[in-house]
Amino acid sequence: MSKLPLVFVTRQIPETGIAYLSGRARIEVWEHKEPPPYQELVAKTQNSDGLLCLLTDRIDRQLIESSPHLKVISQMAVGYDNIDIVAATEKKIPVGNTPGVLTEATADLTWALLLAAARRIPEAQKYVKDGLWKTWEPTLLLGADLTEATLGIVGLGRIGQAVARRAVGFNMRVLYYGRTRKPEIENSLGVEFRQFDSLLAESDFVTVHAPLTSETKFMFSYKQFQRMKETSIFINTSRGLLVDSEALYRALCERQIAYAALDVTVPEPLTSQSKLLSLPNLIIVPHIGSASYKTRSKMALMAAVNLIAGLNQERLPNCVNPDVYN
Ligand code: NAP
Ligand code: GLV
Repeated sequence: MSKLPLVFVTRQIPETGIAYLSGRARIEVWEHKEPPPYQELVAKTQNSDGLLCLLTDRIDRQLIESSPHLKVISQMAVGYDNIDIVAATEKKIPVGNTPGVLTEATADLTWALLLAAARRIPEAQKYVKDGLWKTWEPTLLLGADLTEATLGIVGLGRIGQAVARRAVGFNMRVLYYGRTRKPEIENSLGVEFRQFDSLLAESDFVTVHAPLTSETKFMFSYKQFQRMKETSIFINTSRGLLVDSEALYRALCERQIAYAALDVTVPEPLTSQSKLLSLPNLIIVPHIGSASYKTRSKMALMAAVNLIAGLNQERLPNCVNPDVYN
């Protein structure tokens, strides 16, 4: 019997993924809480036939070109901006990702942040825990209404649409900006297209769901925050680099915008010295958009299925560089 292929899994993942790999591959798992250091990642990948990686791993040209046995890269995430897709495609290595299964969980987290920012939940909780709650007060911790407010969605893909669907329940007007108009979705969800600047100027809430690319990097800098309403609330659950953090800090300090909530930052993780953490009008959570039990189990299984398909020279069910099959 021929030896099973060797796969390197860059962190402990939910059992669904490991169970699927078992018996189909020899598995080496990086057992530490933190990601493998880059040189370690290169060394492990050099000996592997398959790589199951996470968004915290830098999968660059050097790593790809120095891995002679590598047949497939499978990322347990939908975003893949950490992977040099051009280099992988040149080497005919298919790259897999996990779209769809995390859409609803990430939309839920977006709404959790939006509501928490609108109603200032972290400030309110701190107020209670600090022992300041003495009575009901007519003007204590006033926030923003959602009903009949305008929600601006940047990037109306899978997650953007799931966010829009949830806005119906709040009776909000929904605008979107994206690189392509989507007339069918405009009709089915009742959303309206706006140019980027108009969306910023008209929205009470702006939420970002575009991937990180050379076009979207720093899409939000000081100028964009200046265009937004002084009462507006900004949510980012896409990637930290879509936003110029320094500009966001300044906009929040100067009250160019009222509040922000981030699931993604630059850098990740933020250090405890980050000045962003000193802002009372900024909520930050540690990149937990897809972090529900069911969703992470589905992601791990999907990543494992992609990985084994690649090792068997079969088409990946979810492949981000289908050009490798041409
Ligand atoms: P998707 O379905 O591909 O949607 C992305 C949308 O962004 C598409 O509609 C796309 O337009 C649009 N877009 C692309 N480039 C753009 C640009 N330059 N300007 C404006 N819009 C642009 O992806 P998804 O599944 O919704 O995921 C979106 C992103 O969310 C991922 O790439 C990832 O970075 C992030 N994410 C984060 C978490 C988390 O834990 N916080 C979880 C999941 C995903 P087209 O329709 O023209 O392609
Ligand atoms: C998470 O950020 C993902 O891209 O899946």
